[in-house]
Amino acid sequence: MWLPALLCMLTQLGLSAGGSDTTDPDAIFAVNNVTAATDTMVQPHFDNSTKREYTAAVGQPAYLHCRVKNLSDRSVSWIRKRDLHILTVGVHTYSSDARFAALHTDGSDEWSLRVAHAQPRDSGGYECQVSTEPKISLSFWLTVVVSKAEILSGPELFVRAGSDINLTCIARHAPDPPSINLSSFIYWYRGANVVNYAQRGGISVETEQRTRTSRLLIARASPRDSGNYTCAPSSSDSASVVVHVVSGERPAAMQSNAIQTTSNYALVLLLTLNIRKEFIDTILHSIMTLYFQTKLKYTSTPSVISR
Ligand SMILES: *[C@@H]1O[C@H](CO)[C@@H](O)[C@H](O)[C@H]1NC(C)=O
Ligand SMILES: *[C@@H]1O[C@H](CO)[C@@H](O)[C@H](O)[C@H]1NC(C)=O
Ligand SMILES: *[C@@H]1O[C@H](CO)[C@@H](O)[C@H](O)[C@H]1NC(C)=O
Ligand SMILES: *[C@@H]1O[C@H](CO)[C@@H](O)[C@H](O)[C@H]1NC(C)=O
Ligand SMILES: *[C@@H]1O[C@H](CO)[C@@H](O)[C@H](O)[C@H]1NC(C)=O
Ligand SMILES: *[C@@H]1O[C@H](CO)[C@@H](O)[C@H](O)[C@H]1NC(C)=O
Repeated sequence: MWLPALLCMLTQLGLSAGGSDTTDPDAIFAVNNVTAATDTMVQPHFDNSTKREYTAAVGQPAYLHCRVKNLSDRSVSWIRKRDLHILTVGVHTYSSDARFAALHTDGSDEWSLRVAHAQPRDSGGYECQVSTEPKISLSFWLTVVVSKAEILSGPELFVRAGSDINLTCIARHAPDPPSINLSSFIYWYRGANVVNYAQRGGISVETEQRTRTSRLLIARASPRDSGNYTCAPSSSDSASVVVHVVSGERPAAMQSNAIQTTSNYALVLLLTLNIRKEFIDTILHSIMTLYFQTKLKYTSTPSVISR
C-alpha cells in the first residue's frame, strides 16, 4: 500500500525511483533528510550576530535593528513586550503612537524599529517577529537614559597662576556611540564661547572614546583664564566648573596680615581638596610657615626675628 505513495513522492522530488533500491529503508531517510535540509534553507531565520541591547539618550531617536535572512514573502513585525502592543507590521505603523516607525530598504535584510524622541518609559523589552508557521521571534532590550556629563574637579576650582588648569569631563551613562568619533562632538566652552585654541597657545584637549572622557589642559594659567568652563558632549547634558586663577603671592609679602592670610589659604585648601596632591602639599607648607612666622612674631624678642 505504501510503495505507490513512496514512488509518487520520489517522482515529485525528481529523484530516480527505479530498481529495488526503493524498498531500502535508508532511501526513505535520505528523502526525508533532503526535504528537511531544503526546508531549513528557505525558512526565514535571524542573523545570529544581531545586536540585541541598545541604549539611547532621552529625546533622541532610538533604533533597534533586526536582521532576517531569507524572509521571502513573510513579514516582520515589532512588538512591545510590556503590553504585547503591535507597533509595526512590515513598513506600516500599527501603533497610535506615531513615534514608532519601521525602517526598511528594499533588498536589505534589515528591519529596524525607530522610536522618535525616546523617553525613559520606552525602556524595556521589544520583540522582532517573523510571520512563519510557527512564528519565530527575537527579543531586544532598549534602555533610554538621561545622560549627564560630570567635571571631576567641579563645581568650583581654584588654580594658582602659572600652574595648569586640568579639567576632566566624563559623559556617564552616555548612549551607544554614534558612528562619528567622540573627539568631534565633545565641545569645551569658556562662558558662551567655544574654547579657542588659536587665541592662546598651550591649550590641549584629549578625548578617549572608550571611557567617554575628555580632558582640557590649559598650561601656565593666568587670571585671564578664569571663567565658567563647560563641557558639552553631543548626547549628554553638559557640565560646568567655575575656575578661579588666583595670583600666587609670596607668603612673605603678607606677613603683616599673616593670620588673615592663613585663613584665606585654609579656605582655598578646603575648596581644592580634590584637585592635586602636590598643590595641597605646597599650600600646607605655606600654612605651616605662616603659622610659625606668626608665632615667632608674637612670642619672640626682636633679635630673634631679625635673624
Ligand atoms: C538522515 O538524518 C538522520 C537524523 O538526522 C540520520 O541519523 C541519518 O543518518 C540521515 N540519513 C542519511 C541517509 O543521511
Ligand atoms: C537565502 O539568502 C541568502 C542571502 O541572504 C541567499 O544567498 C540564498 O540563496 C537564500 N536561499 C534561499 C533558498 O532563498
Ligand atoms: C548562533 O550563535 C550561538 C552562540 O553564539 C551558537 O551556539 C549557534 O550555533 C549559532 N547559530 C547559528 C545558526 O549560527
Ligand atoms: C590631569 O589630571 C588627571 C587626573 O585628574 C591626570 O591623570 C593627568 O595626568 C593630569 N594631566 C596633567 C598634564 O597634569
Ligand atoms: C577621531 O577623528 C579624528 C579626526 O577626525 C581622527 O584623527 C582620530 O584618529 C579619530 N579617532 C578614532 C579613535 O577613530
Ligand atoms: C556656567 O555656564 C553654564 C552654561 O552656560 C550655565 O548653565 C551655568 O549656570 C554657569 N554657571 C555659573 C556659576 O555661572
